Amino acid sequence: MGTDWTEGHVANGFESYDDTLGQLLGYPYVYKALGLSNSAAGSGLDYGCGPGKVAVRFAKASQKHFYAVDESSRMIDMARSAHAHPLVSYRLIQNDDLPFVPNNALQGAMLCFVILNLGQRIKGILDKIYKKLGPGAPRVILDTNPITTGLRFTTFQSGLRKRCADGDKRPAWLFLPDGKALELTGYFWSRAAHINMFEESGYEDINLMPPTLADLPAAPLRTIGLYSGIRLEDTTEWSHPPFPSHQRAQTKLGHGLKCNTRLKMGK
Ligand SMILES: C[S@@+](CC[C@H](N)C(=O)[O-])C[C@H]1O[C@@H](n2cnc3c(N)ncnc32)[C@H](O)[C@@H]1O
Repeated sequence: MGTDWTEGHVANGFESYDDTLGQLLGYPYVYKALGLSNSAAGSGLDYGCGPGKVAVRFAKASQKHFYAVDESSRMIDMARSAHAHPLVSYRLIQNDDLPFVPNNALQGAMLCFVILNLGQRIKGILDKIYKKLGPGAPRVILDTNPITTGLRFTTFQSGLRKRCADGDKRPAWLFLPDGKALELTGYFWSRAAHINMFEESGYEDINLMPPTLADLPAAPLRTIGLYSGIRLEDTTEWSHPPFPSHQRAQTKLGHGLKCNTRLKMGK
């Protein structure tokens, strides 16, 4: 079994985690890939929303409604009390079902740091989300980068430096502001496995983007608290991408079709 997200120390530890690295090299790419800056009607979906920080940031920035769903009652309780927002509907879900979302209605869906928690349920979840997406709506995954497994980034490490096969369990550590490490258990999925997950659910036009700090303007980075007293160029994330920062899958050009798939992979 992977991490139990209903445990108090896990939920509280995750809420306290400084997600600056995600805010620099992950979430903004997800936001852009979701393409929420249009005026079309519909809602976004944050699947596996955890404490709700990301859904609220996206709702505020886009002024769009988000369904923010999680199977952990502790996470949903925390989200409702700590990150309530009129544009965000938090929902506790069971068995990966989304009965309150009409079919073909979503403008986009994101799964941030969720797939890495899952063993065999991934395809079922992606299929269920697919049914809810409107025509042309993207689905975006943010996960830790299989290529940088075992490297220590400033605020996390995913796995150890040893060979992994798809579906292998692997530990991860979040380095918390109080100096402790929150140990989590997840699963290793290679790039090829990620791409297969999309293709098998009928998604098309699949892209991967793995940026590093070196891709960003350095001056604003030097003002960020996380990097005070540290030479940016000495951090792992300067030269190694911590996340394959977005995998954007355009969908609904034809249910079940696997044509026109383009892959862009760097680093
Ligand atoms: C690492 S947290 C990520 C939270 C949030 N997406 C973020 O980026 O801050 C993973 C979350 O996914 C949720 N989760 C894992 N598997 C799930 C599933 N099958 N259905 C719904 N939620 C799930 C967990 O309960 C947990 O809250």
